[in-house]
Amino acid sequence: MTTIPRLGALALACACLSARAGDVEVLHWWTSGGEAKAAAELKATMQKKGHVWKDFAVAGGGGDSAMTVLKSRVVSGNAPAAAQIKGPSIQEWAREGVLANMDTLAKAEKWDELLPKAIADGLKYKGSYVAAPVNVHRVNWIWANPEALKKAGAKLPTTWDEFFVAAEALKKAGIIPVAHGGQNWQDFTTFESVALGVGGADFYKKALVQLDAATLQGPTMLKVLETFKKVKGYTDKNAPGRDWNLATAMVIKGEAGMQLMGDWAKGEFVAAGKVPGKDFVCAAAPGTAKSFTYNVDSFALFQLKNTANQKAQQDLASAILSPEFQESFNLNKGSIPVRLGLKLDKFDDCAKLSAADFVATAKTGALVPSIAHGMAVPSATEGAIKDVVSQFWNDDKMSPAQAQGRLVTAARTK
Ligand code: GAL
Repeated sequence: MTTIPRLGALALACACLSARAGDVEVLHWWTSGGEAKAAAELKATMQKKGHVWKDFAVAGGGGDSAMTVLKSRVVSGNAPAAAQIKGPSIQEWAREGVLANMDTLAKAEKWDELLPKAIADGLKYKGSYVAAPVNVHRVNWIWANPEALKKAGAKLPTTWDEFFVAAEALKKAGIIPVAHGGQNWQDFTTFESVALGVGGADFYKKALVQLDAATLQGPTMLKVLETFKKVKGYTDKNAPGRDWNLATAMVIKGEAGMQLMGDWAKGEFVAAGKVPGKDFVCAAAPGTAKSFTYNVDSFALFQLKNTANQKAQQDLASAILSPEFQESFNLNKGSIPVRLGLKLDKFDDCAKLSAADFVATAKTGALVPSIAHGMAVPSATEGAIKDVVSQFWNDDKMSPAQAQGRLVTAARTK
């Protein structure tokens, strides 16, 4: 007689526990040194809440492979709890009717007050939150090894003219001027920084956000393409196929002088124990000091059936925006917090510059979405333009004028 109530209590306790602990499967592509450390922060946060972390990492910088895998999982009715999805793709997934409405949580935690409005709007579908943001990456950066610059008698460039002077000096000193990984998204990342630097923020918006045909066909775009192709002359012959973090490692080791890359590169320097301002230096990409290409990593949340998993998903979304997580994650990731009003005491000068420029450029209209990182145009259009940019980078027989013609056509892709 006495064992039955005891067993009953035990069963009840187990039921409570399993109602609280859920599985949280998260798709991302954070597999490099700095990225993996940042992802580990998320895992630890969820485990502390008692949930089971199911890592769904699909390697491949920029996330193209991850997106392909995600599509097949969702189509087969087996979506993860959350997936790293950004920009207009959030709307594309929401239109499929597969994302969860997070408004109850967002209202309770006042997301509208915690986030810059322009960013919050992109996380909503028909006025309801369907994704939670983790950070703000700046894409228009140049990273350099100060020792290598010194050896070459070069200085960190602030204009494209200075860039080529520095590149020439590095080359003469026997150092690879530009660390590059020849993968289409890296070519595209370089391209957008050249476009911003050569043409300015208004040109960038017209050409690469509004896809204005006249601007795409105009003389400024021709100059952008010429400048972009000139950069290639300062990369090494082993660049094709190289991962971005291996390119960063070349700058870390002083084999290469400079890298044009978003501030996830800083995560690599930091993970290698390097100190900003001493072992490596950062600056806005040439000609872009007064503009900012933003790339906001966010997690879109998929509809789930299991209530314990739904609870875990809510906890994930809530944790992502907590001040503690925003700090620890972004210190590792190289980005800055997306949540407004947080202290940046623990962040380095590159992050502080990023935060100041984010606010300043939002006021002047020079805060622009990164096309290379899925923030500016629909994914099909982005893919078509990215292909042309890479073909031009790789095919030395294609003239800038030919590339320009193809760009105009690609921009019409819907
Ligand atoms: C970006 C992403 C970053 C970083 C980078 C390289 O698209 O937003 O978080 O992971 O790719 O993988």
